[in-house]
Formats: sequence, structure tokens, C-alpha cells
Amino acid sequence: MSRRGLLALTAGAGAAITAGAAGWSRRTTASTGRVLASAGPLPRPFRVPLPVPPVARPVRSERGTDFYEVEQREGTVEILPGRKTAVWGYDGIFPGPTFAARSGRRTVVQVRNSLTVPTVTHLHGGVTPPESDGYPTDLLLPARCAPGRTHEDMAGTHPGRTAVGYRTYEYPLPQPAATLWYHDHRMDFSAPQVWRGLAGFFLVSDQEEDRLPLPGGDRDVPLMLCDRSFAEDGSFRYPGHHEHDAFPDGVLGDVQLVNGAPWPVLDVSATRYRFRLLNASNARRYQLRLDAGDGKWGRFVQIGSDGGLLAAPQPLDTVGMAPGERFDVVIDFSAFPVGSKVTLRNSAAEGGMRDVMRFHVVREERDDSRVPSRLSASFKALSPGPGGSVPVRRFDFRRTHGTGERQMWTINGRPFSTDIVLATPRLGSVERWRFSSDFHHPVHAHSAQFQVTARGGRPPRATDAGWKDTVDVRPYEVVEALVRFTGYKGRYMLHCHNLEHEDMAMMANFDVT
Ligand code: C2O
Ligand code: CU
Ligand code: CU
Repeated sequence: MSRRGLLALTAGAGAAITAGAAGWSRRTTASTGRVLASAGPLPRPFRVPLPVPPVARPVRSERGTDFYEVEQREGTVEILPGRKTAVWGYDGIFPGPTFAARSGRRTVVQVRNSLTVPTVTHLHGGVTPPESDGYPTDLLLPARCAPGRTHEDMAGTHPGRTAVGYRTYEYPLPQPAATLWYHDHRMDFSAPQVWRGLAGFFLVSDQEEDRLPLPGGDRDVPLMLCDRSFAEDGSFRYPGHHEHDAFPDGVLGDVQLVNGAPWPVLDVSATRYRFRLLNASNARRYQLRLDAGDGKWGRFVQIGSDGGLLAAPQPLDTVGMAPGERFDVVIDFSAFPVGSKVTLRNSAAEGGMRDVMRFHVVREERDDSRVPSRLSASFKALSPGPGGSVPVRRFDFRRTHGTGERQMWTINGRPFSTDIVLATPRLGSVERWRFSSDFHHPVHAHSAQFQVTARGGRPPRATDAGWKDTVDVRPYEVVEALVRFTGYKGRYMLHCHNLEHEDMAMMANFDVT
């Protein structure tokens, strides 16, 4: 029986929309959301090689600045063997090209919009001036409008810094080496537009990282994890307007993609590899484990978090990732004999989605890499300072019902409005922020980076370590963080990174003053 058949059986035969792991769940590992079932056969796992997105090349470089041009356009790719999928991609590919940038060196990206919808590009994890941060109403309208539409009606009613055709984003990158990513952030439409492919990696390196003997070259591999569903003809399936209300908690796919390929395989040598794990899913959460078969499990060594390298490496048996989070890990395949198959599994998922990808250990190889016991000397634990008095702010993430049965997601009781500002931290200051909720919400702040100091009144989990910009807030658990405001003055966002929640108003402004 096909995987699709199995899914239909577990959820009621014939239902196009099957109930997900749990719409509302106290199970701390489950995903919030609902599975949108694919039509047609699903691909068999572990048949296609892992693709690695190409690295973008600057069109020119000057002292201190690299200039890039990228075009958002429709492209056709083969994700499911033998079927074609139209993607909306940066340069027409999904994931988009990887930017390899340097700390403190300006990266200037001119984005051209050749799609038929407005877009917004946000560099997630970037410390970026507000004009280039990708505020949801700073629309980039397509160079050419869709038939019957004008630029005026596409600009809509939200005030914003609107551009037509192209926009230049400037990233000064006053931040250490880190795994960032870029993705669409258009007001009310981030979820469908990211689902169609508008996302890619943006890696920042620096001198401190250069000096570390970590695995590099083709043994430094970004892994973008996301789930998608497909229609019979191979196109992406996403709930249309009429079915959208059936997915208030989030849309889950039934095909696991890594770098845009379904359940791929990577041939590895029996050496150390660095993997930059990114959860780019709209709503899916992961509890990753390394299954070496016969009851044997491998382990990860975490070297970096959202915002950069840790002070020291930490071994992890499982990596829990909410949408938006990154984990920089090393896996040492010399722990497995040549010929081993090591499967990356997601124990937070059901059925075929418990598989993510597979590593085949195919040969011995010389390995000069190491994971040193000290990684970043510049990493310092934030402290509230003498006396311990820093401003404390509370942000409560909660659902309410809007008019009719329409659900809204709110922060401190308010759905997003461009003119309501929930906090005004001072540039250069540190504040204590408390996030609470009655549900699962991956809470993300733009520009500011934070350190988790407590979870449910207890010390943070191992996976909360390091500089974070996104933190998994679980039902009935208060997460406390010390937040540092460096960078720039201006308006930034705090929001839920479950993209369906985000599009249903779970965003807020804070002004750095
Ligand atoms: Cu990755 Cu405001 O988002
Ligand atoms: Cu962001
Ligand atoms: Cu949420």
C-alpha cells in the first residue's frame, strides 16, 4: 500500500484533509498544525541524492562591500521523481542560492521581483537597519503586474516603504559567524509564499571561526528541513482561501524535504561533518535523532545556535527544532563502520514523516578536523548587571476568536497592527523578556539576540544554549530571556514563527530607541 493510502486509513479514508499529529496538544514534542495530504503517490524514501544549493556570486566587489543581484521568479524543478513542480524561487530555485558573507563586511543584495505578487525579503537572524530588515508592509511590487491588477491595488491599504520592480537590501552584518537564512515576509502571505519556495541560506563567517579546525569545504553542509504537500500534477499543494480556515493551527506537509529533495541520501566518508540544520518549515517541529540501526543511536555535537558559535561544544542525543531555529552540529561518522546506513529521524512526527534523510557511510578518509573544547571566546553570558535590575517585559501569545468562527492569534491580547508598539527598549541595553502561551509558539525577535535564562521556572534546556533569535515556547511554560539590543534604532518585529500564526496576526512591533 502506498504511504498516501496509509495516511488516509489512519485519518479516515478519502479525506483530502487528514487530522495532523495534534491540533492542540500538550505533548511537548508534537507539531501544532494539521496535515494537508498530497494527491498521487509519494516518493519512496532514500532514493535521491541530497542537493546542496549553489553559492551566490557577487556581481562586483569593492573595498568592504559585495554586491549581489537576485531575481525572484517562477522556476520549474523536479522534486518528485518524474513530476514537475513550479516554485517561486530566488533565482527560480528552491532553496535559493546560499550567500556566503563575512562579518562586518557589507553585503548589498538587489532583489528583482519577476513574480506576479508583492514580496518582502527578510534576513532572519541579521542585525540589519530597519529600512532593509524586510518589515511586512515594505512591499516590493512586481515589475509587471498580474493581468487585471495595478500597482496601486497591489500596494493595498497598509502604509509601507513600497518599491516597484526591485529593491536593494543592505546588510552591514555587525555580528559574529552564524547560520542565517532569508525568506519572504509579506504581510498576511508569508506562509504561502515561503511554502512555494522563497527561502535560502545566508552564512556569515568571521576570523575567529576561520581559525577553528572544524570540518570545512564539502564537509560543511547546510541542511534546510521543511515539509510540503503536492497535488497530483506535482505542483505544491497549499490550502486555498475556502479551506484556509481548516488550518488555523498551521499547515503540515506529508513529504519531508531536505534542501528541496524528498527524504534524500548523502554519501559520507567515515569522518566528521558539520551540518547547519535549519527548520524552515511553516509549522512542523522536529526532534531529531540519529538512528544507526540495530538499536544503536548516534549523537550530535552542537557547536552553534541561531546567533553564532557556542563558547564550548555540547553533545546532544536529540535536537529539538521549532520553525525558524538553527542548530550548527558536527556528526562524527567514524563512529560507524563503513557500509553503515545512519538515518536522521524525527521522533516528533508520525508515519513516514518520522524519516528525514539518510547518510551512507561509504568510505574511509583522512580527517584533520577536530571539535576544539573552546569555540567562541567572544561568547559571554549576559547578566542583568549590578543590582540585577533590568526592564522586564511580558509577552503573552494566545489565540482568540475573531468575528464569527475566525480565529486570531494575538500577543498581549492584540492582533498585529502596524501602529501599535508593544515595547521601546533602548539601543545598547539589556532587558528581561518573559514569553508565555497556552500553545506551542516559536517566538522570534528581529535584530535583537537573546539568551534563554529560565524555562518554566527552571534552568533552560541544553538546546536553549547560546545566542538565540527564535525560541520554542511550549504550552503553559514561561520562557525567560535576557535580550540585547545592539545594532540600530528603529522599528522591528517580534512574532510567532509558525508562519500560519504569523499571517493570522501573531506579530508585534518594538521600537529600539
Ligand atoms: Cu524568519 Cu520575522 O522572520
Ligand atoms: Cu527574522
Ligand atoms: Cu504561534
